[in-house]
Amino acid sequence: MDKKNREMAHRMTAVLTPNYLPQPVSIERGEGCYVYDADGRRYLDLMGGIATAVLGHCHPAVQAALTHQAGKIWHISNLFLSSPQIELAERLTTLCFAEQAFFCNSGAEANEAALKLARRYAHDREEKRFEILAFDGAFHGRTLFTLSATGTPAYWEGFGPLAEGVYHVPFGDLAAAGQRLSDRTAAIIVEPVQGESGVHPAPPGFLQGLRDLADKNGCLLIFDEVQTGVGRTGPLFAHQTSGAEPDIMTLAKALGNGIPIGAMLTRASVGKSLVPGTHASTFGGNPLAAACACAVLDTLTTGGVLETARKTAEHLGRSLEAMAHRLGPDRVADIRGSGHLRAIELTQPATNVIHRCRESGVLIISAGASNVRLAPPLIISNEQIDEGLAVLEAAIAAEIS
Ligand SMILES: Cc1ncc(COP(=O)(O)O)c(C=O)c1O
Repeated sequence: MDKKNREMAHRMTAVLTPNYLPQPVSIERGEGCYVYDADGRRYLDLMGGIATAVLGHCHPAVQAALTHQAGKIWHISNLFLSSPQIELAERLTTLCFAEQAFFCNSGAEANEAALKLARRYAHDREEKRFEILAFDGAFHGRTLFTLSATGTPAYWEGFGPLAEGVYHVPFGDLAAAGQRLSDRTAAIIVEPVQGESGVHPAPPGFLQGLRDLADKNGCLLIFDEVQTGVGRTGPLFAHQTSGAEPDIMTLAKALGNGIPIGAMLTRASVGKSLVPGTHASTFGGNPLAAACACAVLDTLTTGGVLETARKTAEHLGRSLEAMAHRLGPDRVADIRGSGHLRAIELTQPATNVIHRCRESGVLIISAGASNVRLAPPLIISNEQIDEGLAVLEAAIAAEIS
């Protein structure tokens, strides 16, 4: 570890709660697909700031929106009208099924709002529906309600009692989902691709199957697109290739390209339950974050970025296939994902591979113990993909014999 990075690591352990286990480099700045540490070393960012920097770091259009808005007003609360927030809601509702938006600051808050809305909607219809059906392996956030919906029991440890009435069934199992629904079910919540547990796409027909089950049962369907939304898997929203539409969709991560913002989107017939006073967020939809998110959407939808990204995603997919073939099944158990969200499932824990890549100038992350997750910016070039995968392949070959 170089001098400045070592000093940062020392200072961090003295003053921060130990819930994070950061890699021992302090990232000081970023530009496009590269970031630079405190000692000036350059890294290729194949994790896109944990699936946030969809347009790369310090994208000029988002930076211009941020600095322009920073010279006007930063925050005045939701007690006043705010044009960036309204403009963002107008853009989002044009781009998907939704008619209304509620803005917050993170993915967990967006899902918290979605789950609360599902209960409140049932309450307003005088239905005794409060249960939530979620899936094993799901990740929906760390607030108590979203943690309860998260389907990895290790994350619950020591935080109980969890929210009442939240159930899990195996991801992809329509029969199990159907059996668990009842006249007490308020909503089903599902990720179109389970990101955190290892990039597991919903099996074909699963999302539409859930739509049919929800319609038959009379409960709401929530798609958590916090990780998959805003172009990450190919289309603007991952569910758009499934033919199924949710009643509520949540977004965060890439929406502000790294500036904290979350969104819960829904139809007016459902959103009408959030009457004044029912739900709120001090910073939600603040002008700075909303202006950035508008710039992100404009750049993605009018600048040809999605179209170009589709081609680089094909190159990424082909290159991963070839890499897995060369490394063989003793090292690579599976490769999954689409667009710019991929997992390489290794036959051993991924930690050493991740560290070796970083030491060789490439940043990647895990998703579950033995998966390497790639979530590079959509603006990454074929050459940068080749550069990153060469390092990854060498790291896997060196660490797994
Ligand atoms: C699908 C999904 N939902 C919710 C969250 C929680 O988002 P946040 O960390 O912004 O609260 C995440 C974060 O990884 C996620 O991947």
